[in-house]
Amino acid sequence: MAIPASELPVAARAPGKCILFGEHAVVHGRPELLLAIDLYTQVAARAAERLSLNGDAEEVGRHPYLTRALAELWDPSRPPLAFTSVSRVPPSAGLGSSAAFSSATAAALIAATGGSERSHLAQAAFDIERGAQGVGSPGDTSASVAGGLVALNAGTGSLLWEVAHGDRRWQVRRVTDPGWVWLVAHTGVPRNTGETVRAVGRRLAEPDGPALLDRFEEVARAGIAAVLAEDRTEVGRRFQENQELLRTLGVSHPKLEALLEAVAPSVEGAKLTGAGAGGSIVALPRPGHEVEAQRRAARAGALAFIVRASPSGARVVEAPSMA
Ligand code: PMV
Repeated sequence: MAIPASELPVAARAPGKCILFGEHAVVHGRPELLLAIDLYTQVAARAAERLSLNGDAEEVGRHPYLTRALAELWDPSRPPLAFTSVSRVPPSAGLGSSAAFSSATAAALIAATGGSERSHLAQAAFDIERGAQGVGSPGDTSASVAGGLVALNAGTGSLLWEVAHGDRRWQVRRVTDPGWVWLVAHTGVPRNTGETVRAVGRRLAEPDGPALLDRFEEVARAGIAAVLAEDRTEVGRRFQENQELLRTLGVSHPKLEALLEAVAPSVEGAKLTGAGAGGSIVALPRPGHEVEAQRRAARAGALAFIVRASPSGARVVEAPSMA
């Protein structure tokens, strides 16, 4: 479904995400599986006398994603915009808050400038995030634009679109949602995707780097196959293997390890999700143990959510009254 044209005021909503398999390895061309989650960021824009974000003109300059979005998608000869952004996605948690903001903002601006295809939105949202972060793959923004489950570099599933940066191209494919409920839980330890990706790049330059990447690829392919086969036990087992590899890369953290241990009795398997070195975990609760897993995570000090796959990706919604 395309992004329809809309008059101002306009609002759009986009989901956060978690990575089920293959974070970091994806930056080096290996497969990744992402789940867009049913926690959303909503961005609304109306014509105004001066540019602002949540009522504050100074805030725009401090917000690299909004600055980028305006540079990419808003002709400065058009009226200034007052933006309002509300979100249920915890920031700096590895749960795709910047991708959700970039996708929702791009969807709103694209709608206000005549609408476009979803593949164009996927490229625009990636350009915004990559421009603001300086590194990274289009996984987060594509999951937020597509909703549901998506795979990169995997060759599995129907092709949604290709996203490019310079000479590099990534194919984004749809993976069927098994309809499961997942647990995501944030340690509260903030992390920086750019720094972590660069540190991993240095680690992978060591002699065992290529073999490690091969293992990441093997686990991600097996994990995607297990999701498609709806084999929960196997997904849990592959989560554990993926976590072991992430530890070897050096991106786990004592708080992540403590949280993984706390939820272990109620889940099929669990791993950190996103860049790591802080941030969040994802777990597949055992059937009937979802709330118990959430409680265990909360008792261990985490901000925990039970989530499902977001049934839709970024979309234009009715603009709230912004009087
Ligand atoms: O920003 P995060 O924590 O969701 O991490 C993104 C996943 C990485 O593979 C580490 C980087 C990337 O852009 O793919």
